[in-house]
Order: sequence, then structure tokens, then C-alpha cells
Amino acid sequence: MSFPVQRVRADFPLLTREVNGVPLAYLDSAASAQKPNQVIDAEAEFYRHGYAAVHRGIHTLSAEATQRMEKVREQVAGFLNARSAEELVFVRGTTEGINLVANSWGGSQVGAGDNIIISAMEHHANIVPWQMLCERTGAELRVIPLNQDGTLQQDALPGLIDGRTRLLAITQVSNVLGTENPVADMIALAHQHGVKVLVDGAQAVMHHQVDVQAMDCDFYLFSGHKLYGPTGIGVLYVKENILQAMPPWEGGGAMIATVSLTEGTTYAKAPWRFEAGSPNTGGIIGLGAAIDYVSALGMDNIARYEQSLMDYALQALAGVPDLTLYGPAQRLGVIAFNLGKHHAYDVGSFLDNYGVAVRTGHHCAMPLMAFYNVPAMCRASLVMYNTQEEVDRLVAGLKRIHQLLG
Ligand SMILES: Cc1ncc(COP(=O)(O)O)c(C=O)c1O
Repeated sequence: MSFPVQRVRADFPLLTREVNGVPLAYLDSAASAQKPNQVIDAEAEFYRHGYAAVHRGIHTLSAEATQRMEKVREQVAGFLNARSAEELVFVRGTTEGINLVANSWGGSQVGAGDNIIISAMEHHANIVPWQMLCERTGAELRVIPLNQDGTLQQDALPGLIDGRTRLLAITQVSNVLGTENPVADMIALAHQHGVKVLVDGAQAVMHHQVDVQAMDCDFYLFSGHKLYGPTGIGVLYVKENILQAMPPWEGGGAMIATVSLTEGTTYAKAPWRFEAGSPNTGGIIGLGAAIDYVSALGMDNIARYEQSLMDYALQALAGVPDLTLYGPAQRLGVIAFNLGKHHAYDVGSFLDNYGVAVRTGHHCAMPLMAFYNVPAMCRASLVMYNTQEEVDRLVAGLKRIHQLLG
């Protein structure tokens, strides 16, 4: 059965917009995806008819809202194949989740002389919190280098791990290159040495099924807004035995058991111990609707459609003169490129005039820009609502820019 891309597009009101007098071709979903009516309506319905503060009230609305929020936690457990909903912490997004791990787990498990391993393709969200932790503790940050084609130098990993390695923090899919890392193999190797592994799934969950048990990662993260859900909501998965042993990070309401001015505070059990303050309940409801949406389509069907679109795009882009592509032959979700010697901002601005929205800049991956010795790149994202016609418009736009600018 072919993928119902036109039916999917009809669910996303923003995709019918025009920009600069032409229909929009939205190729920036890796930065943030558009939202289907089902997500927008679920959040609006919650605010219209179901809204109340959670966890605190005895009244009906509060109890209902709490139930709905906890139901989404269970839904996320199913989506990631976690053993239990209690392994899932609601956070603002991947960035906040990594900071939570760095501060709570890292603060208690990483000390002077220890080391943490990341890779040279990480988003700043999976670099800076570890640099800050290393600065605080006197630990060392080690980096898996890249091959020129944008894959990891796998052979380097065993040499980087030693008796003081505490954590491997690695992206599942590069937000710039689309490289999919062999995380399951890397996790198996790390675990042989007693090293915990954090997987940044921000660019993976929207493209194919994720199974945290099969992967056997210790920590996993994703952001709702890249999965067609609302902004300001994301998920941190932590294996239950690790999560229950982690100390609290942010303090406040909702994360406590008892508070006494004379005897101090005792904390709630995980995951609630890590959810201080009033949560983003509207965002959680919207996230639940987003998971329903992609699940109804089927992650395998989405993956198959996106792969065929990627194949089509790579073939079509091969016809653009002077185009440099960055990344491996096998890419997931994104294509990074530069046109001749033109700055990515110029190319991106021209494309915008033609209604084609791509990302330009360093993509929160400055070390990767340094590796390729460029200040910036353009990046086109391809997701389940994109079409061959939009790819054709990207290609036509690039050819026109090449004609105009040389
Ligand atoms: C690979 C990767 N990690 C982390 C992030 C940060 O996600 P957020 O800004 O939603 O916290 C992004 C966002 O672009 C990303 O692509």
C-alpha cells in the first residue's frame, strides 16, 4: 500500500500556506516539525474542557487532568517500549533532559579523573552540559572522531574507554549529516566495560521505531516538537534502577514527599522526583496526540516512505552543478549541503524567495562545521509530509541560484 502523503498533508494546516507569493515547501522539520490538526485540537480541547492543575487537587477536573497526563506517560512507554511508565520523566525537551542527567546522575557519579565520551557530530545540547560537568568535577571529555564521510571512527571507541570512563553520550542520528550511528553495538561495547550510555534520540524518533529495551541504552531523550507535537515538552527515559537511585535536580513543589522547616525535605519517588513545579500539561496532552497520530500511520510505513523520498532527493540533487553534500551515502531525514562558494545564508535566502524553507547556519554543531572547515551549511529535511514535488522545487531553486550567482 502506498503511503497516504496527501491525506497526511491535509492534516497539517500550515502546509497550505503561501510564502513570498508561492506555496510553501517546508523542508525544515529537523529544526521543528509542523503540527497536525489532531495535535492542535487535542491541546485546545484540553484547555477548553479539561484543564486544571494536576497532582494537587481532589476535585474532578484535577483528578481527570492528572489521569490524562499519566496516561500519556504510559503511551510514551509503549512508543519507546520502556518496561514501565515510571522510567519516563517529562522534561521541556532533549536539552533539558540531558542537563537533568548531567546534573543529577553526573553530579553524583562523575568525579575528578573520570571521563565521559561523546562524538564530534553531537548537537551542542549533547556537548555543553558535559563540558560544564567536566569543569565542575575535574572529569575529562573525550571525543570519538569522524571519518570524512560523516560516519564515526568506530575503531577509536575501544581506545577511548578505560577504567575511569563513566558515560558514553551519543546521538542516534546526526541532526546535520543524517548519519545513523550503530548505537546498539556501541552500547554493548560500553556495557562490557561497565560504562553507562545516553542516547540522544531527538533526530530519530520521528523516522522509525525506537525500542529502548532492544537498544539497551541507559538514558534516552527526545523532544515533542520534532515529532509533530507541541514545543516545550520532551521525554527523558532512564532505566528504572538508575532513575530510582538518582538524586533530585530541581527542587520545588510536586517532587517532594514531605517538607519540614526543622527536619528538612524527603522526596517523591521517581519519575515525579524529577518533575518540580507545575508541568506543561497542555504539551503533554499534545504529545500524546502526536504519538497517536504517527502510531496510526505506522512507524514502519513512515520509515519506508521517507526512505524512498530520500533516495529520490539524492538522485535529483546529483543534477545540481557545484553542490557539495555532507554526510554518508545512507542518510536519515536530512541532507546538508553548500552551493559553490556561496554562503549558506545567501543560498537559504534565495530558496526562501522561491518558497522553499531550509535551515542555514551552524545547526548547533559548531565542532562539525570546524571538521568540514565551513562556517555554515544549508540543510533540507525530509519527513512524512514532504513530497517529490517539493524536492523538485528545491532542486529547481538551487539550479536557478547557480545560474544567477555562478
Ligand atoms: C540531535 C539533537 N539533539 C538535541 C537537540 C535539542 O533539542 P531541543 O532544542 O528540543 O531541546 C536537537 C535539536 O535540534 C537535535 O537535533
